[in-house]
Amino acid sequence: MSTMDSVSDAEYRTGAIRIHGAEGFEGMRKAGRLAAECLDMLIPHVVPGVSTEHLDRLAREFVLDHGALPACLGYKGYMHTVCISTNHVVCHGIPSERPLREGDIANIDVTVIVDGWHGDTSRMYGVGEVSPRARRLVDVTYEGMARGLAAIKPGNTFGDIGHAIQKYVEAQRCSVVRDFCGHGLGKVFHDSPNVLHFGRPGEGPVLKEGMFFTVEPMVNLGKPQVKVLSDGWTAVTRDKSLSAQCEHSCGVTADGVELFTASPAGLFQPAIAGS
Ligand code: MF3
Ligand code: CO
Ligand code: CO
Repeated sequence: MSTMDSVSDAEYRTGAIRIHGAEGFEGMRKAGRLAAECLDMLIPHVVPGVSTEHLDRLAREFVLDHGALPACLGYKGYMHTVCISTNHVVCHGIPSERPLREGDIANIDVTVIVDGWHGDTSRMYGVGEVSPRARRLVDVTYEGMARGLAAIKPGNTFGDIGHAIQKYVEAQRCSVVRDFCGHGLGKVFHDSPNVLHFGRPGEGPVLKEGMFFTVEPMVNLGKPQVKVLSDGWTAVTRDKSLSAQCEHSCGVTADGVELFTASPAGLFQPAIAGS
């Protein structure tokens, strides 16, 4: 979500960070798993020549066939099930008839609603053979997300998560996008708090058991600045450098973190999904 968009889901967002119980964990496990299975399903379809619209259709049919709802369809006027962000597109790429090409990298982001609970996840896909620099960016982004997730346990802060991501990503000579962030989620799609992917240790709210949120860093090979195109959605790097993103939905447990959107088949990051 956009860090500028503080009134997102405004009717439901109180500013307080919700604490969920066992029923919430159960609900999020189901929603998260289906979202992950949707991204698993797409892997063999992400090939040169396929349109992103076709991938969107496959995702929509998969979600509906499993008795769930696509959260993005109709969300603030967005009319698709997934966002597909290729190459220098940072996030919120709109599926279209344009075909994917050999060497593209693409993020596919899906959010499903199961029994009212939201499962929100995205991964990177390589289209055919991908250049070493694109592959390195994807690996850095994944590892950045993983380090953010590893900082999650009661007593740590949201600043600890952001710092872990930023420190690693910048040490790899890449940059963290500032204009979009992760978010609380549960029965609300974009709930409090904003989860920044940069920050300082010890700053921000303290993590407590039962908090649910996403970690979804966007990482650029070049500078961090982005702009949103005139369609009102597509965010791109200002310097046209390559950008990548990974997203998990998770919950804080008594002693760490539970990932709700892990791939049951272990396909989240075999370097690049599908390879
Ligand atoms: N799934 C995105 C996120 O991670 C939200 C996309 S909103 C849409 O928060 F409307 F663009 F689909
Ligand atoms: Co999200
Ligand atoms: Co998402």
